[in-house]
Amino acid sequence: MEALKNIKGTKDILPNETLLWQWLENNIHKFMQSYGYGEIRTPQFENSILFNRSIGLNTDIVSKEMYSWVDQGKNNLTLKPEATASVVRAYIQHNLGRQNRLNKLYYIDSLFRRERPQKGRFRQFEQFGVESIGSEFPEQDAEIISMAYFFYKSLGIKNLTLKINSIGSKDSRKKYKEELVKYFKPHIDKLTATSKTRLKDNPLRILDTKVDFEKKLVKDAPIIIDYLSSKDKEHFKTVLSYLKELDIDYQIDNHLVRGLDYYCKTVFEIQSDLLGSQSALCGGGRYDYLIEDLGGDSTPAIGFAAGIERLILALNKEKINIDIPIDVYIITIGEKSIIHGTKIAHHLRNKLGLIVVSDMLQKSMKSQMKEANKLNAKFSIIIGDNELQNNNVLIKDMLSGEQKNVNFDKIIDFF
Ligand code: HAM
Repeated sequence: MEALKNIKGTKDILPNETLLWQWLENNIHKFMQSYGYGEIRTPQFENSILFNRSIGLNTDIVSKEMYSWVDQGKNNLTLKPEATASVVRAYIQHNLGRQNRLNKLYYIDSLFRRERPQKGRFRQFEQFGVESIGSEFPEQDAEIISMAYFFYKSLGIKNLTLKINSIGSKDSRKKYKEELVKYFKPHIDKLTATSKTRLKDNPLRILDTKVDFEKKLVKDAPIIIDYLSSKDKEHFKTVLSYLKELDIDYQIDNHLVRGLDYYCKTVFEIQSDLLGSQSALCGGGRYDYLIEDLGGDSTPAIGFAAGIERLILALNKEKINIDIPIDVYIITIGEKSIIHGTKIAHHLRNKLGLIVVSDMLQKSMKSQMKEANKLNAKFSIIIGDNELQNNNVLIKDMLSGEQKNVNFDKIIDFF
């Protein structure tokens, strides 16, 4: 039988990579908690109707990319293509809005979209994201955008472009949609079938086209900023002024609409030029109508989500090495020293919580030292015949090369 392989667009993450993933995940938890956000975990699959109603039937995600099926009980189910809809479903279901006026939530999650796989684009991918549900105020927009921006900065990523736009509240958009229809109508014969449908159902979606001819048309299309109500304009202006105060550079992109229908007012993306065609590191925006649309009380909200694979790609492109050292590598020579080594390792883990690795292959001292270097060990503990005779070990600081004999009883004190 031919060897079985993983499904196209999915990947195995092996132990040499999972260290980085775990390190990132730990940092995400710490970072989000430092803003007072609490983790929410939602199921991997939901009723399909949740995504149809929130993301929108005419979007690429719902019309082409969802993994949906009918189960044995004749339920229409879908593997989660994004997390916001599930978070909002859970928010409504568990009455979170009645318990707290503001709910600040974050997640690290696996998502599924049947897109054409390429660099930075997978069919199963990981995101971290935040959703703040309850505040209509511009400081909340600024907090969400700055969280995304400062998280990348905290990892040392320099190549960041923040693109931002306002697509207005429902009223502002109504007028704008009419203008867009007027603009595209004379070109209707040349539009793709998808855009023709979008022209009827949601003309804003055409601004998101990937077709060259349509992209040219979009360039000269009316821009939404000109149709924003004074309230929407004021909100956007305040968000921008807060970003300026925080020293966050941004570019206003009049054609940024994002690929999901639930957005309103502020939308944004952070991109990196180094990522090639899949340049979006993260994206998000306001969705003040979604909670009501899904059956909850009318509640304003804003959030973003960021791809972890693309974050790792950006770290690699910027040659940012994240050192994940182990604390101690124990080098043993001979049977007796192995027993001592095992005991010392146990005490260091148990009493000090250190990360301790011992050789299990009875390798030569030279190979063990090589392994200690390869694993980025901060210290090695060498237990040879001489050391055993004198009831001590040799502790080597792997960075400075400094060595010291330490008595068996004093090893814990040394660390
Ligand atoms: P999104 O723009 O669809 O937004 O996805 C957010 C991020 O997920 C993208 O910027 C990208 O980094 C990553 N991503 C998306 N698709 C793929 C893929 N096929 N392979 C690898 N990475 C991918 C959302 O998902 C919204 N739920 C964001 C949001 C939260 N808006 C408000 N709250």
